[in-house]
Amino acid sequence: MERGNHNINNIENNDITQILNIIKSACRTISYVIKMSNNISLSKSKNKTNVSGDVINKIDDIANEILIYELKHCPLIKNIASEEEKYIISTNYNNGKYLVCFDPLDGSSNIDINITTGTIFTIFKYDNDRDDKINDGNNIVASGYSLYSGSTQLIICDNNKVSQYQLIDYTFQLINDNIKIPIKGNFYSINDSLSEKWTDKRYTTLINEFKEDCYSTRWVGSLVADAHRTLIKGGFFAYPENTSNKEGKIRLLYEAYPFAHIFKIAGGKSSNGLIDNVLNIPFPKNIHQKTTIILSSPEEYNKFINTN
Ligand code: F6P
Ligand code: MN
Repeated sequence: MERGNHNINNIENNDITQILNIIKSACRTISYVIKMSNNISLSKSKNKTNVSGDVINKIDDIANEILIYELKHCPLIKNIASEEEKYIISTNYNNGKYLVCFDPLDGSSNIDINITTGTIFTIFKYDNDRDDKINDGNNIVASGYSLYSGSTQLIICDNNKVSQYQLIDYTFQLINDNIKIPIKGNFYSINDSLSEKWTDKRYTTLINEFKEDCYSTRWVGSLVADAHRTLIKGGFFAYPENTSNKEGKIRLLYEAYPFAHIFKIAGGKSSNGLIDNVLNIPFPKNIHQKTTIILSSPEEYNKFINTN
């Protein structure tokens, strides 16, 4: 590698490490709030819905504020996009090279029953040669998610590998250095109560095939938990478009892109049912744009593409 490039990579790696450290700190604080508070009161509705129509709970607001507070003081970050904010937030650092997007608390409707929630995030680098544009998910330099569950864990993916950390003694300690998704799994994960409403009937055919092949169903209803299981144990996860959610339910920017990035680096597959690899979907004009999503092991994905 040329010397010049090497330096650029070092600078970029330092930038990413700095931003990841801020996100780690925010996730530690959110985890602390969840573990030390009355979870029933954290689930109290604010009697408001966000841009996507989800009910906002007290913990959604708290997690959002923690992340924004910590990230907006970082000079590397030009813009921030959050599920809970209608518009992009510009920091005071117009020369910042990065956009950070997040879902502050995915699965928050599960908080009152003490079921896994998590923070999903992704870091994009603006393309300096193209007037600070972001083309698509291939501009991502790092992404990840936390799991607030029996333990608190953090999965971080740069462009080389996916690593898993666990919060032990107040620090995130590495517990798996290089996650790779199994080629095939035994579970499929889909909200099958909506099957009558699915507009793409390939999902019905495929799920019947999985049943014939003795797969088991799993559905937590928190994307972080269902996608994490699929990543670690293999199998098939999907949230297809339906007559009520014609574009699907999962948001492209801060839910689908980060998981597509993680699955790609771990050897898995992603799709919106039409475009192979969610990262190739153009960057959305609306930051809350929804998409159909598939996250899968290679074998189950092959079954999907061979389904009519
Ligand atoms: O963020 C959207 C979300 O809450 C995901 O975490 C989850 O996968 C999905 O919606 C659950 O949707 P449903 O309630 O339709 O099963
Ligand atoms: Mn979510």
